Amino acid sequence: MQIIKTKSYIEICQKASEILVEQLKQKPKSVLGLATGSTPIGLYQKLIEAYQQNDISFKGVISYNLDEYIGIDRNHPQSYYQYMYKNLFSKVDMKDEHIHIPNNDISKIDQQAGAYNKDLKKHTIDIQILGIGSNGHIGFNEPGTPFGNETFIVELDEQTRKDNMRFFNNIDEVPKYAITMGIKNIMRSKQIILMASGKEKANAIYKMVHGEVTEEMPASILQLHPNVVVIVDQQAGSKI
Ligand code: PGA
Repeated sequence: MQIIKTKSYIEICQKASEILVEQLKQKPKSVLGLATGSTPIGLYQKLIEAYQQNDISFKGVISYNLDEYIGIDRNHPQSYYQYMYKNLFSKVDMKDEHIHIPNNDISKIDQQAGAYNKDLKKHTIDIQILGIGSNGHIGFNEPGTPFGNETFIVELDEQTRKDNMRFFNNIDEVPKYAITMGIKNIMRSKQIILMASGKEKANAIYKMVHGEVTEEMPASILQLHPNVVVIVDQQAGSKI
């Protein structure tokens, strides 16, 4: 693991965007694995700026998102579908047909994980962006998830629902289920950039970097990946 410690959240986003901009310049048809949550928002802003300055284009980019809630519609403001269009896709020249976000239509929910997994296997992700949960989850692979899992439907950890309550009016509104890429899908990416900011992440970052590789700490599997860049600010990196 390459670890980059920065002074601030803005610097995390700057470093991550430098890697991505370089990637898109070298390979305009890159396949990107994208994440949601608070952490990547500043990265997406930097990428939008690079696009506006004609440094990069997303015309040839193919994207796969890590996960999506189940139990809220794609039109719900907190769906990851809405998040991606609001924070990135509507502001760059991505082609709709190149965008992949797990489908959460509950009328066909039994088929969605298998369908997304099949789609994922059409490409190899060049760079996968990850955040990390305070409980060590990556994507929505919660503690205890088998490392061998491919895309599946997960019951969210209570800690994750509490952490994400800030986006909803109350805990009852936070979805209980989600569809997520599995650890095995994530580990197939050629390169992984994990971004973490804030003291709530310090324990998880410590265990990910120095702890035992165990399904109880999903992010610890990244110790076994050959090309991981971890970018943290002072607070998230305070224990490493
Ligand atoms: P956050 O979420 O960026 O909103 O902290 C990270 C995650 O849960 O993976």
